Amino acid sequence: MAAPRHDRPPTRFAARAPGRVNLIGEHTDYTGGLVLPMAIDRGTTIEGVRTPGGDTVELTSADEPAPARIPLPVTDPAAASPAWGRYVAGVAAELGPRATAIRARVTTDLPIGAGLSSSAALEVAASLAMHPDPMPVLERAQLCRRAEHRATGVPCGIMDQLASCAGIAGHALLVDCHSLAIEPVPFPDDLQVVVRFVARRALAGSAYADRVAQCAAAEREIGPLRLADPAAAETIADPVARRRARHVTRENARVRDFVAALRAADARALGALLLATHASLRDDFEVSTPAMDAAVDAAAREPGVLGARLMGGGFGGCIVVLAHADARLDGWRVRPSPGASTLP
Ligand code: GLA
Repeated sequence: MAAPRHDRPPTRFAARAPGRVNLIGEHTDYTGGLVLPMAIDRGTTIEGVRTPGGDTVELTSADEPAPARIPLPVTDPAAASPAWGRYVAGVAAELGPRATAIRARVTTDLPIGAGLSSSAALEVAASLAMHPDPMPVLERAQLCRRAEHRATGVPCGIMDQLASCAGIAGHALLVDCHSLAIEPVPFPDDLQVVVRFVARRALAGSAYADRVAQCAAAEREIGPLRLADPAAAETIADPVARRRARHVTRENARVRDFVAALRAADARALGALLLATHASLRDDFEVSTPAMDAAVDAAAREPGVLGARLMGGGFGGCIVVLAHADARLDGWRVRPSPGASTLP
């Protein structure tokens, strides 16, 4: 018979979850479209002790002045203070009675608020810290996505949490965000991915939620955007909804073309697709900034660079640059890496 919870001794643990880079497929996940992210070799680690039978999650962070003290059970994660604790509180709320109390420290080598999914990495690491029992990656990703909605109110898609949970070394993940099927796509050794920070931003309070609503408005006219072709988008009467649908329908096609170009080792096509995505995010989806446009233009002119674009939700964050492996570039070179795990 299992011992009662309060009799179990504290146990040491370490959980690590990576950030992600999205190669292509931006603002397509929340309409069930296609994305091509990869988990990267930067991430967030939570290390400490589990205190079964305890009633508090106590966390310090190397990057935050104030510790987070979260009493269990959590009913309103958005009310947790300090703000960084809300992501963890959201995960605890979603885990409900499965959440184990912990006392631990958070460290990260992801820049925070830079568009590399530092929040998803924190959520996924927190889920492993508080609930290490086996859970299918899809279930963990969905739990963490709901946690983010509850913690921040941002109606994000599944991409970031899924990439952090399901990453595979040396591969990008082609995700159909409707069926949630994941197809690993090998990333070629002769190419490199570099990320350049442009400006810190938060999606909470940004126009991200407006974009989600505008896509929903477009879908009321022409049906699911994941099934619509670009010609259908042009029939939408409202010019804003039309531009949003134009981006999404063409972006889904670009993801397919990008995967085909990866398989055909067609480096020039890959670069052209990234630049086309940037133009579409700038002109039709309107989530770029002048600083991001300038960073992409500058990167595209550098020797060895194939293409570049703004990455993630937009309104700041970072750009992603695709280049030949031997090009010497400023920025963080990132490698396709395994998803989250608990460490021995
Ligand atoms: C953020 C969200 C994702 C996705 C991207 C845009 O990163 O968390 O779900 O919508 O923006 O592609």
